[in-house]
Amino acid sequence: MILKVARLGHPALRRKASPVSRKLISSAGFQSFLKDLVETMHEYDGVGIAAPQVHLSLQVAAVEVNRNPRYPKAPRIPRLILINPRLKALSREKVLDWEGCLSVPGLRGRVPRWRSVEVQAYNAQGRAVRFRAGGFFARVIQHEWDHLQGRVYLDRMRDLKTLTHLEEYVRYWNVSGHAP
Ligand code: NI
Repeated sequence: MILKVARLGHPALRRKASPVSRKLISSAGFQSFLKDLVETMHEYDGVGIAAPQVHLSLQVAAVEVNRNPRYPKAPRIPRLILINPRLKALSREKVLDWEGCLSVPGLRGRVPRWRSVEVQAYNAQGRAVRFRAGGFFARVIQHEWDHLQGRVYLDRMRDLKTLTHLEEYVRYWNVSGHAP
C-alpha cells in the first residue's frame, strides 16, 4: 500500500520519533508497515524514507538506490531497513553535496554531512547490525536519521543560497546534464 507523504509544514515532520520495541518489530502489523514504507519510497523515487514522513512517529527508516531517476548518478545501495539507528561520525570533515526530500518536493540544496559514519541499528528482522557507511550512502543515512529527530535537510544548510527548484538545478547546477 502506498502511504501519504507529509510535506514541509506538517507537524509530523517536526516531532522526535519514539524508539521501536524489539517485540513490535516481529509483529505482522509492523512487518506490513515496513513493506508499505518501501513501496512508498519506490513510488516516489526516493533513495530513502523515514516513518515520520508517512505520519508514523517511530524510529524507522528505509534506504535503497537502484537506478533512481531522481538521482541517476548515485551509487547503488542495497535495500536496508534501519530501526532505532544510532550514528557516530568517523571523521571531523563534512562534505557539501546536493539533497532533495520527498517532503520538500521540487527543491534541492547543498547540505554539509559527515563524510563517513558508523551506524548501529536493528534490521527488519530485529537483529542488531553495525556497519560503516561513506559518501552518498552516509549522506542518505544522515538525512533519514535527521527525520527521526524532527529535522529536515533545510535545517542543516549553512545558508539558503543554493536552495534551487528542480528545473533551475538541471539548468544551472547539474553540470553533467542528467535529469535529477
Ligand atoms: Ni527527506
